[in-house]
Amino acid sequence: MNVFLIAAQTADGFIARSSSHLATDWTSKEDKQFFAERTKKARVVVMGSTTYETFMRPLKDRLNIVYSRGKTYEGVETTQKPPTELIRELQDRGYEEVAICGGATIYTLFMEANCIQTLYLTREPILFGQGITLFTKPIDQKLSLVSSQKLNEEGTVLFEYNVQT
Ligand SMILES: NC(=O)c1ccc[n+]([C@@H]2O[C@H](COP(=O)([O-])OP(=O)(O)OC[C@H]3O[C@@H](n4cnc5c(N)ncnc54)[C@H](OP(=O)(O)O)[C@@H]3O)[C@@H](O)[C@H]2O)c1
Repeated sequence: MNVFLIAAQTADGFIARSSSHLATDWTSKEDKQFFAERTKKARVVVMGSTTYETFMRPLKDRLNIVYSRGKTYEGVETTQKPPTELIRELQDRGYEEVAICGGATIYTLFMEANCIQTLYLTREPILFGQGITLFTKPIDQKLSLVSSQKLNEEGTVLFEYNVQT
């Protein structure tokens, strides 16, 4: 099972201005295209309820799993399971990849559980000064850079990292 984290960041490292800030109103069309293609290839997207409520509809052609302790939504599966248990179940259902799509709380949950093998981080040429960081807690994890790719003329760069074991 390949589990990857996928996120867009500002040049100063933020993933949003605030929890209610729409996930996609500042990212490039090339990043949106990469996100759609890569997550459709994975077939499963996992996210927290706060992120889900920024767009409030299932991402089409993908199994949508939303972490919530109480809410339910039409067209998506909700879960409270520990990451390792969820991944094992998805593997048993025949899935081979899982895309962890945020937000910071869910990125942290999966990173702390040592469930992430790969990170796709798109760096957009924009500054927020303050906002939500990728993780909500200190993380100490070495990465290996697999590739960096300029996605457009404006300077959006996609970094792929593997987690060092
Ligand atoms: N730039 C990017 O690539 C990107 C990607 C994704 C999100 N974002 C941004 O990130 C922000 C949201 O991040 P966030 O950290 O505030 O929220 P989040 O991770 O999207 O969701 C947090 C919610 O997940 C549920 N949850 C968390 N841990 C759980 C557990 N162990 N079991 C069951 N449910 C659990 C809880 O939902 P309940 O309250 O329903 O119980 C919690 O309120 C938004 O601004 C969004 O735009 C940015």
